Amino acid sequence: MIKLFTTTPLLAICLAAANTPVTFTHDVAPILYKHCVACHHPNDIAPMSLLTYKDARPWAASIRQAVLSGKMPPWKADPHFGKWSNDPRLSDTEIATLKAWIDGGKLQGDPKDMPPLPDFPDGWKIGKPDAIITIPEQTIEGTGPDEYVYLNVPTNFKEDRWIIASELRPGNRRIVHHAHVFVVDPPDPNKTAGAKTTNLDPQREYANWLKIKQGTIEWVRPEAPVIDNGCSVDDNGTFPGSHTSDLGSLISSYLPGREADVYPEGTARKIPAGATLNFQIHYSRTTGKKEVDATSVGLIFAKEPPRQISRRIDLSNHMFMIPAGDSEHSVTECHTFNKDILVTSLTPHMHLRGKSMRIVADLPSGEKKTLLYVPAYSFNWQITYRAEEPIFLPKGTRVEILATFDNSANNPLNPDATRPVRWGSASETEMMDGWIEYLDAH
Ligand code: HEC
Repeated sequence: MIKLFTTTPLLAICLAAANTPVTFTHDVAPILYKHCVACHHPNDIAPMSLLTYKDARPWAASIRQAVLSGKMPPWKADPHFGKWSNDPRLSDTEIATLKAWIDGGKLQGDPKDMPPLPDFPDGWKIGKPDAIITIPEQTIEGTGPDEYVYLNVPTNFKEDRWIIASELRPGNRRIVHHAHVFVVDPPDPNKTAGAKTTNLDPQREYANWLKIKQGTIEWVRPEAPVIDNGCSVDDNGTFPGSHTSDLGSLISSYLPGREADVYPEGTARKIPAGATLNFQIHYSRTTGKKEVDATSVGLIFAKEPPRQISRRIDLSNHMFMIPAGDSEHSVTECHTFNKDILVTSLTPHMHLRGKSMRIVADLPSGEKKTLLYVPAYSFNWQITYRAEEPIFLPKGTRVEILATFDNSANNPLNPDATRPVRWGSASETEMMDGWIEYLDAH
């Protein structure tokens, strides 16, 4: 008898819930605003807006499929490793709500229940920038191979600037496939013109020696030695990659699925007075028509001096070779940190044959800890995984980047399975990079 009394009220609640219809305005819009509309609003990377009932309703079946299959929102990290502040995945309850709305007749509901439309100020996701630096207008013809344009634009900064957020914004999304912006320090007045640059670190100079350039595209010399297992060679030396300066020269990227760069509170990246910004833009001729573009980077300055410098190191192997047709070719690269650090984000970067990447911390205690595992990497979703809590790595930790590549005909993105592939900056060639953002722990 007692059992009956306790279950009755519960049953009543369940029935009440089942009787309340799930509506767009009351139940669905809040979920879409939280997880989807950052990309699914007009003039952004997604092909359609999901802001209003009218926008979303025709896509209901497709939304159901995309959400239940885990295709949307895009996220590639294996949830067993690491906790990420930008993890966009829906909770089981949210998925059930979307499903109930679609299966229950896709009701609109009371317009008064609609949450306020999210604000996308002037299209900038980081908010209104303090400085916007734009390239001179580029005209891209309608036919021909993809074009890589490298341009230097002065910042005209009279003093050092600390950046707390940066966002690269294509002028013409139809043709800008991806873009990077690097900070180029002003020339050192203490050096005479024409003198050999000495501020390049030797690793980088060595890497340059290995690369050949045609126009704006770089690749490794075909006769360069092959080193797939970068971890078998000196971690912090010249072979086989470049570990560029730990202030990091790359300040912003526009890559499919990548968000704007916003640094953790109290931290900032430095752009020195007089620096130049080097834009590298990959244009693809998707429209077959002549198009113009003027891509910009928006920067937000720190309002007060940062407590901490946000550092970044790019671990890359430049010397690998992926045999033709190989469906699972392993490449590694390692770096040992000589101080205590706090990792704030990790970004795997490969091109079209990238298959998986694991980033492992080999701790001085002998313990090996997987920091990030992306089992099914996709060039179309180059995501930065931002640590929910900074990850402490003690001095002497060796970070290992373990990548696999699929150069077989079964890889639908593979542009050519009949040829071996080496390092290069064009998408048809390959890269093997793990980008690590971190703070000094002390
Ligand atoms: C990081 C940006 C981003 C987020 C967040 C995002 N989408 Fe998408 N979505 C895209 C892009 C880009 C495409 C088109 C490319 C593709 O289909 O892979 C797309 C495609 C889709 C499609 C078409 C799928 C197909 O198979 O054709 C649906 C449906 C969709 N998204 C729903 C959603 C829903 C629902 C959410 C939130 C739960 C969401 N998306 C979150 C960027 C995003």
